[in-house]
Amino acid sequence: MRCVVANWKMNLSSVEAKAFCEDLLGRCAPESGTEVGIAPPFTLLSLVSGLVSAKGIKVFGQNAHAEAKGAFTGEVSMPQLRDAGCFGVLLGHSERRQFFGETDAALAKKVKAAWQWDLLPLLCIGESLAQRDAGQTLAVLGQQLSILAETGPGPLWVAYEPVWAIGTGRRAEAPQVREAHAFIRAELNRHLGAAASAIVPILYGGSVTPESFPELLGIPEVAGGLVGGASLDPKKFAELVKQAG
Ligand code: PGA
Repeated sequence: MRCVVANWKMNLSSVEAKAFCEDLLGRCAPESGTEVGIAPPFTLLSLVSGLVSAKGIKVFGQNAHAEAKGAFTGEVSMPQLRDAGCFGVLLGHSERRQFFGETDAALAKKVKAAWQWDLLPLLCIGESLAQRDAGQTLAVLGQQLSILAETGPGPLWVAYEPVWAIGTGRRAEAPQVREAHAFIRAELNRHLGAAASAIVPILYGGSVTPESFPELLGIPEVAGGLVGGASLDPKKFAELVKQAG
């Protein structure tokens, strides 16, 4: 199974989102056999879900709180994401880890909360440039995946996103992606068991474009892409969906 997920981050108005969805649906055959997802900002979830869910496109939140409700000003809960029409939720995106202090301990709770509310967690992991330069890439990925020893198996997608490749136009080279994805698969096998691991797709993210995606898709264990910048253009995003099909 191939998966292509648009991460809109903190972009687009309701007018722009509606135009995007209409344009995308005009270009993409929903029966293409590829899982297609869009992760809009919270304010656009219901709108986007209303426009695309019936066409088989899955909507993801970009984050959520582990508690179901309560006095957490500024936060949104898993059941609220469900209520807004979400199928899943991005967890541990590097921008959440870097700018909002997201920790592995909090993420373990969030993964379990997502399962409790029947949401698919898309767990994002990846090393910084300093960590790569210090030869710590695999250790960092191993640490970020170690939360699965606590959560145990469940429905899951994983995205490998080297932090230095996100939004920089500098995507990881094929051997780097191959090494990271093989390591992630081995860790998933170790934590979840081979049968549960086998159904977890590992996406690549970081400056994915229609120019780079075909090569990435040819790398073993690359099941698709989590796409930021290029996902804001429906023409480019539709092209990525086509390439994955
Ligand atoms: P990018 O973002 O495609 O703009 O590099 C990817 C991501 O942050 O998920």
